Amino acid sequence: MKRPLWIKHAAQLVTVTGGKGPRKGEEMSDLGLIEDGSVWIENGKIIAVGTTAELEVQFGEWEEDADVYEAEDRLVTPGLIDPHTHFVYGGSREKEFEMRLEGASYMDIMNAGGGIHATARLTRESTEEELYRQAERRLDSFLRHGVTTVEGKSGYGMELQTELKQLNVMKQLNEQHPIDIIPTFMGAHAVPPEFKGREDDFVSLITDEMIPAVAAEKLAVFNDVFCEVGVYTPEQSRRILEAGKLHGLAPKIHADEIEPYGGAELAAEVGAVSAEHLLKASDEGIRRMGEAGVIACLLPATALYLREEAARGREMIDAGVPVAISTDCNPGSSPTTSMPLVMNLACISMRMTPAEALVAATINAAHAIGMQGKAGSIEPGKQADLVMWNVKNYQELQYLFGVNHVGAVWKKGEKVI
Ligand code: NIG
Ligand code: FE
Repeated sequence: MKRPLWIKHAAQLVTVTGGKGPRKGEEMSDLGLIEDGSVWIENGKIIAVGTTAELEVQFGEWEEDADVYEAEDRLVTPGLIDPHTHFVYGGSREKEFEMRLEGASYMDIMNAGGGIHATARLTRESTEEELYRQAERRLDSFLRHGVTTVEGKSGYGMELQTELKQLNVMKQLNEQHPIDIIPTFMGAHAVPPEFKGREDDFVSLITDEMIPAVAAEKLAVFNDVFCEVGVYTPEQSRRILEAGKLHGLAPKIHADEIEPYGGAELAAEVGAVSAEHLLKASDEGIRRMGEAGVIACLLPATALYLREEAARGREMIDAGVPVAISTDCNPGSSPTTSMPLVMNLACISMRMTPAEALVAATINAAHAIGMQGKAGSIEPGKQADLVMWNVKNYQELQYLFGVNHVGAVWKKGEKVI
């Protein structure tokens, strides 16, 4: 049997325990903080959590049989969870970055055949092996930034074979990389040029062929759509999300990112697990999401990168909407793997508190991807996914911004960083 692991003397242990569903309102400020905290781990699972004094009483006599890790007065949190990424893709788009700095808009570039279409061409051309190598490097970077679980979307194929190729890469990486990967089918990421003017035919291809094929191979858990002016209408989005539900794929939706378009309202109507972006979500849409319990997955790094006003995170929390945050890691609108930066931005651009940002990046992010039973908090029975940060408290983690404070990362009890 593997030796137990005992992490001791964390200045602050952020457990984020308690409560049932995703946290909302004032619950988002409750970190379940333990001063001078300790965690006892066996076979990759958390067995006990408490103060170091409490665990000394409980486990002191077995100390010699355990690997002891001294946190030495630093902060320990659950492994961060990134609930929205597009990390499997071919090529990169640094030229578009320059074009946008010179004044071109994200949608102009896409409508001219660049953007998502450019990455789709490169992804279609890449072999599975090439995609695997590139994506693996991105996962390594996530891990170095304290992220231990990642959702990943297809959507750079927009034809069945390439969509399956992306999802297969995620399946293999999930087996071979320490990070847990939750796969999402996003065939409706853009309308491929070969279907221009025949958008509804492409929607039918998604609902009648792609979704059944992806579901039959059990390659995805969620189904996502880019509901946006000039991409998919709310009506087309509804068709796609309802078709996914029939095949057991839970709905997610890129909503109201560039223009207000009723995406938040649609998310509530179809019972989406989460709605993403929401920069331009209406008051009514936010209210309905709160009522329906749809998680708002907010992406402040994307807003910054597109030089747009961030989503109204503060107002959403005050309106009772559970909020999660994510990198949106993708080659166009947010090429980053840094969840710590996203937490900083949640505070700076969306006026979330340091505690709310941590809840949004841990337990609420877990709920957004159906991982709440295994990850997102430090409590007995869950996977031992933990991060030790080179700071003394959680406020300092958010205050010293743009810096990687990761000191150590454990995934299922193994020290991986
Ligand atoms: O979430 N908005 C649509 N999809 C991605 C961007 C994908 C890309 O530009 O390659 C997003 O921002
Ligand atoms: Fe996205």
